[in-house]
Amino acid sequence: MTTETKFPPEISPSRYIEKVSLGSGEVLADEILPRQLLVHHHRDYHIVDIHAHYMMGRVVKATGDENWAYEKMKRMRRLGHRTAEVLAKAIGQKDPEKISKALFGLKKREYFFRYKRHPHTKEEIEATIAELQQEAVEAMAVASVDGKPAVRVLLTGGTGFVGKEFLWQVAHDDRIVEAVVLIRPKEIKDRKTGEVTRVLSPAERGEQLLRQLWLEGTPAAAKFRFIAGDVEEPGLGVSEEERAQLASTLTHVIHCAASVAFDDPYDISFRANVTGTLNALRFSHALQDNDDSPFVAHVAIETSYIHGRHIRTPAREDEIVFPRKFYNNYYELTKAMASLETERFMLDKGLRVIQLCPAIVIGESRAGNNRGDTKVVNAPVNLFGRAGAAARDSEGSLFERSSISALARLACIFPADPSAEINLITVDRVAQGMVAALKRPEAVGERVHLASDTRIKSEQIRDIVADEVGVKVRLAEPTLHRTVTLPLLTGVLRRLKQPKVAYAMEKLGTIFGGYSEWGQPVHAVGNDVRILGLSEDRPDAAHAFRMLCRHNRYVQGFGKVRDLDEISRRERIWWDLMCELERTTGGPAGAISPDDFRAALDKHLDLESFEARS
Ligand SMILES: NC(=O)c1ccc[n+]([C@@H]2O[C@H](COP(=O)([O-])OP(=O)(O)OC[C@H]3O[C@@H](n4cnc5c(N)ncnc54)[C@H](OP(=O)(O)O)[C@@H]3O)[C@@H](O)[C@H]2O)c1
Repeated sequence: MTTETKFPPEISPSRYIEKVSLGSGEVLADEILPRQLLVHHHRDYHIVDIHAHYMMGRVVKATGDENWAYEKMKRMRRLGHRTAEVLAKAIGQKDPEKISKALFGLKKREYFFRYKRHPHTKEEIEATIAELQQEAVEAMAVASVDGKPAVRVLLTGGTGFVGKEFLWQVAHDDRIVEAVVLIRPKEIKDRKTGEVTRVLSPAERGEQLLRQLWLEGTPAAAKFRFIAGDVEEPGLGVSEEERAQLASTLTHVIHCAASVAFDDPYDISFRANVTGTLNALRFSHALQDNDDSPFVAHVAIETSYIHGRHIRTPAREDEIVFPRKFYNNYYELTKAMASLETERFMLDKGLRVIQLCPAIVIGESRAGNNRGDTKVVNAPVNLFGRAGAAARDSEGSLFERSSISALARLACIFPADPSAEINLITVDRVAQGMVAALKRPEAVGERVHLASDTRIKSEQIRDIVADEVGVKVRLAEPTLHRTVTLPLLTGVLRRLKQPKVAYAMEKLGTIFGGYSEWGQPVHAVGNDVRILGLSEDRPDAAHAFRMLCRHNRYVQGFGKVRDLDEISRRERIWWDLMCELERTTGGPAGAISPDDFRAALDKHLDLESFEARS
């Protein structure tokens, strides 16, 4: 099914969103197509906006005054509309809108989107939440031993990046006495032919997990149990028998499984992220309804990007409004829909829920370890690293070497405004938030951003990549790059028989461009400390990004080392080494200068065999 298709009501955006006339305030009956809710759909038809956005980034950078820049931009738009009116009069054109559209690409908005309102008043919501919190506190007291929480949790998404870090922290937390991990079977395919060569059962995947988390044979391993399931199936695909057993033991469900693909079509994202969430909510609701169940609360893992593209005011933790500047992709849109479903379950059905919204998650803060994750921010870093290595190590004739070097330079153009700020948070901080939520029944009814208060700018990212990866990345204006430069470059690359580089560049441009334009949302933080009791010292985004680059370079060979057992072996050595460096320097490894860091590596680590030097 393509994004042009009309979707059945149960998955149509109209289930959540309505289109409202700006003039009359009436709700319009038009069908809402998913693509109309994305940033680039709006942009590609509003040429002046592309330039306006570009100019805003420059003006704000030069003046440092955002409000002044907004006012100027608004005045320019008004001037454009007035000029069109005068011209229309002069040439006898009845509709000045046609002129402003044709000449300046300016189009007055006739409608806006908003989320459908739920019927509850503010007072009703506050009363419901207070009641649910009280119920959760009482349920937790029953589940506690010697006044301390004794948590038995079911986790979906345990084989993923965030889930693995959570399981690692669970293993080292005495208050969590059991973790049941819901896993689906995995097909292993031949990389060349795509043929399925083996299917790993959930139990086999569980064994692998314990081994790769360095838990095999440890006493902590006894607290984990792996069960078969699939979040897209009713009842999470869990057997009747298993469900009955879980009903008598589980205190919490954490729904963490999702499809974190920024380029999936709408219906695929919807099934994984909204249908999956609905199944998990129904599963928890059935537990809560069971009189014999010790159930305390459902923890939903969302994303702070459910707020889409806001610019003027920070995205608040206590509300979700349809973003004036739309969504970057269907991942964000469907995660927002999932959040609305979670809210509905809480307000309409009285399910006790806690919503956690991580920003963009990167490797662990001290060492950069990511247990083999290669998505999101890792993807461009790995691409730059491999392009740089290809240029440095190229062999052959002068012509061949210069061609490779030219290709590598092309692959290192990144669509980003230098002043764009993105919100990176380390995976250990996210897992700390998840663990804390299990012990804080008072957090029921709250939405918590697990985000950073020190956002990192594209230009800082570029500079750190130059230091740590040895590659000079050139930043290109994102929308112009996507709409003009990228099609040209990829066309040339395909003619030069370089489809792989062309594909990688296309992915980079279309997937990440949206996150590095000027005017990124600011996600308010505070509930992580106030409600979950996490430390006020949120991870330093620049140090963490530096460690991501170092880790991806040395431990993962920029994504070339794929075997998860080998990554696990390397990460253990890397972790010990980073702890040792912290001890000897008295500061975080991310604060060590690139030269000193490289010297320390040469001294302590044989990079060829990836073994510690004795
Ligand atoms: N990574 C980020 O930057 C980021 C940022 C903000 C929020 N989040 C949120 O954090 C959560 C975890 O993200 P992640 O980065 O850990 O994602 P990930 O590495 O892609 O892992 C996704 C997990 O979901 C599981 N899953 C997907 N579909 C499933 C299904 N139908 N049935 C059972 N399991 C299924 C996957 O299982 P398989 O191993 O079988 O595929 C995997 O365990 C998500 O809810 C995501 O939206 C992530």
